[in-house]
Amino acid sequence: MHTNDEDQLNKQKEVHQEVDDATQIKYFGGHEYDGIKELDNPLPPWLKYLFYVTIVISFSYLILLFVFEDEDIVQKKEYRKEMMAAKAKTDVAVSEEATKTATAAPLTEEQILAAGKVIFDKTCLVCHGKFGEGLVGPNFTDEYWIHGGKPEDLLKVINEGVIEKGMISYKSQLNKTQINNVIAYILSLQGTNPPNPKAPQGEKIVKN
Ligand code: HEC
Repeated sequence: MHTNDEDQLNKQKEVHQEVDDATQIKYFGGHEYDGIKELDNPLPPWLKYLFYVTIVISFSYLILLFVFEDEDIVQKKEYRKEMMAAKAKTDVAVSEEATKTATAAPLTEEQILAAGKVIFDKTCLVCHGKFGEGLVGPNFTDEYWIHGGKPEDLLKVINEGVIEKGMISYKSQLNKTQINNVIAYILSLQGTNPPNPKAPQGEKIVKN
């Protein structure tokens, strides 16, 4: 065992001393695998100098990056620049939108009623009739109201519903504006004379 180790060491030393016959280049000490020995070959000069050049380049890059903080290679700056450009764009869009809404006239009575009709036709028509003449739900064209005929009375019914009678709550389906619009539309139906009106329900409430 011991002698084996020594032998190995001696062999390595020998190897190190050995010189290749063809090139006169020394073998690289101990690098022998399966009988193939590695030569301690110097790098070709062009490769060595290329390596030095890359070191010089990397230093100038570092100086540009950290000392002069060059715009084109500092990613953080580039990122900031692009974000600012994007923000400037959206700011313009937002301010344009703001001026648009600021100068937009409030909805006219007609527009409110039209918006209310859209909601009514989509959501309420099935029970209150195409013209509000009443079906399952009461007639909106007469002067009779079960829960009161003031806007706030209608608001309460629409918000809370009359579940046991089949009128559900629309609070979660419609927003405040939509509810106000549909109330305006319903109130505008009073006095119209639709075909097949449902018989009055509730109390007669005369508009003042
Ligand atoms: C599934 C059927 C149904 C639908 C859909 C429906 N309603 Fe009703 N609605 C009723 C019934 C039934 C009543 C009567 C409740 C009662 O007897 O107290 C009623 C009552 C009302 C009343 C009170 C009427 C009164 O005389 O006091 C209002 C206001 C009303 N509904 C508005 C609406 C609106 C607005 C919609 C749509 C967003 C709508 N309803 C959708 C069935 C419905």
